[in-house]
Amino acid sequence: MSIKDTIDKLVETIHRHDHAYHVLDKPLISDIEYDAMLEKLRQLEAQYPDYVRTDSPTQRLAGKVLEGFKKVEHAIPMLSLGNAFDADSLYDFDRRVRKIVTEVDYVVEPKVDGLAASLLYDEGRLIRAATRGNGTVGEDITHNAVTIRSIPLRVKTQERFEVRGEIFMAKQAFLALNARRQAQGEERFKNPRNAAAGTMRQLDSRVARERELDMIVYSRAESDAEATWTHLETLDWLTKQGFKTSEAVACASIEAVIEAVNHIANSRAEHPYDIDGAVIKVNDRTLYETIGYTAKSPRWAIAYKFQAEEVPTHLHDIHFQVGRTGQITPVAVLEPVEVQGSTVSRATLHNEDYIRQKDIRIGDDVIIRKAGDIIPEVVAVIADSRTIQAPFEMISHCPACQSLLKRHEGEVGLYCLNPDCPAKHIELLIHFASRKAMNIEGLGQRIIELFFNEGYLKTIEDIYTLHTHRDRLIEQAGFGVRSIDKLLDAIEQSKQNSVELLLFGFGIRHVGEKVAKVLAMHFDSMFAMMDCGVEDYEALPEIGPKIAQSLTAFFADTANRERIERLEALGVNMTYKGIRPKKGAYAGKVFVLTGRLNRLTRDEAAALIEQAGGKVTGSVSSKTDVLIAGEEAGSKLEKARKLGVDIWDEAHFEAVFNPLEA
Ligand code: IVH
Repeated sequence: MSIKDTIDKLVETIHRHDHAYHVLDKPLISDIEYDAMLEKLRQLEAQYPDYVRTDSPTQRLAGKVLEGFKKVEHAIPMLSLGNAFDADSLYDFDRRVRKIVTEVDYVVEPKVDGLAASLLYDEGRLIRAATRGNGTVGEDITHNAVTIRSIPLRVKTQERFEVRGEIFMAKQAFLALNARRQAQGEERFKNPRNAAAGTMRQLDSRVARERELDMIVYSRAESDAEATWTHLETLDWLTKQGFKTSEAVACASIEAVIEAVNHIANSRAEHPYDIDGAVIKVNDRTLYETIGYTAKSPRWAIAYKFQAEEVPTHLHDIHFQVGRTGQITPVAVLEPVEVQGSTVSRATLHNEDYIRQKDIRIGDDVIIRKAGDIIPEVVAVIADSRTIQAPFEMISHCPACQSLLKRHEGEVGLYCLNPDCPAKHIELLIHFASRKAMNIEGLGQRIIELFFNEGYLKTIEDIYTLHTHRDRLIEQAGFGVRSIDKLLDAIEQSKQNSVELLLFGFGIRHVGEKVAKVLAMHFDSMFAMMDCGVEDYEALPEIGPKIAQSLTAFFADTANRERIERLEALGVNMTYKGIRPKKGAYAGKVFVLTGRLNRLTRDEAAALIEQAGGKVTGSVSSKTDVLIAGEEAGSKLEKARKLGVDIWDEAHFEAVFNPLEA
């Protein structure tokens, strides 16, 4: 064989192995064999530079430093997508599409969270890669794109064509990169998307070469008038050309679309790369021209965005927390990461069963999530990141008082049943003084632990006799007169709180802020509440049997009754002081709820309306008096506007019906 033929053959073979490994994820040979082949090609090319091909796999290793980025104009603009956040908006999307074309089926794909890029091929070779930029003009990133092994440098077809897709960094590659950066004293990337974007922005392609990037393509750029294929056919064609294409599911109806979207949402944490939603597209490309575009996005596609951000990080350790009910919660100690605007270093692991089901082990790389205000949780282990970690073991004794832990029948959690367990008392005190309960500023975890250990504070009542220790507290190291007086003032003030804060502060099982408020509004005073039967609680629409049982048990306990009496004697308010919607103020008025409410569930909102005499119905009509529109409200909002129905947002609704928070 001639030298040229040998080179050609090596180029061919290495490309085949790149494809098998990086696109199909099915290597055909060992890394050692692969490296040897690549090395041989490198040597031959060095000896015979005339035979170096522009599509040689050694290009991926070349390393090129640019002076600056060249601009690339996109012949067909790179648009973005409209967003949907709930099923309602997907129905709306379907209705809009069907107004224009009657027969339609859809394709659902994961929405990869990376950066959009375009690849241009001609005569079988990759000739240019570009970022999206502002959609019309992007930047030439060919030097970085060629380092990405899943991007074919050569394709079968000789025709000129452009593909589009998402460049991203897999979760595992991201964590490995951050670990390396940390070891070298470099700043860590916030998330895989930033890592991918930061890498592609480099003028020196050696940076990208060292980092494991990947690309999934999801479309071919061609004018709609020319299109003859369906979207699925396009993806098939792209797969045959050697690209890694998006995993697409065909859906014959919008119901099937919603099912496919839910499936993606449920498997999200297990995906090797970040997905931040799903993309829904009309399958038949020949309809795109007819369905058309808004100024910024196509009308034939929509992005369904997941609410909660999921972030990969490292699980350093598992601690155990004793709650105020004695329940033991395993808590993940994490490498700190930013999730939805705040730094998270601890997350709940719920209970033993949860950890076992997901087989979470100390030393694993994990995915964490935080939805809205909710406590962060560990949702999954990143597959294959494990080396030698031992299976998780649950503790058998209370970490605070060493007593043997027990399970309540039919419950998953373990409990410390020792009534004198210090951790339980401390947790109750922390909860009682916390912002959402009695809101005693200055009485946080640190001070409570200190006072508890020094013997000033054992029970809730002790908070209200703390002033008798004023002089001794001042003598204690670290406490100035001013800070003690400020704290005692805050305690004094808390006596005036409306009773639902006290009730919530008691930490009764199943009695959260909202339930406490409902009870306080209804019964008016702690004493009225105390002398009720289960039926009286259950008569309230918001109170189910579990809550009612729990309340009855709490108030039946003489220790609790005595505590309430002592607190009253100490001057703590026992009545409801909030405003309440006038009974009957909304009698006979018809309300409709739509969109996402952030602070209430729909059931809670409906309960408040009904309490004021209003009625809640499902759809907007001329009989509707008020539409309560949460975020991302869809067609109901449009209809209410058309009909001139009164429209309230969540804040307005709360001001009218739920005024205590204000
Ligand atoms: S289709 C007209 N499919 O999401 C735009 N986009 O705003 C067609 N993305 O900029 C885009 N995964 O970068 C499409 N499977 C997928 C996608 C996807 C991620 C990104 C893309 C686009 C953004 C939508």
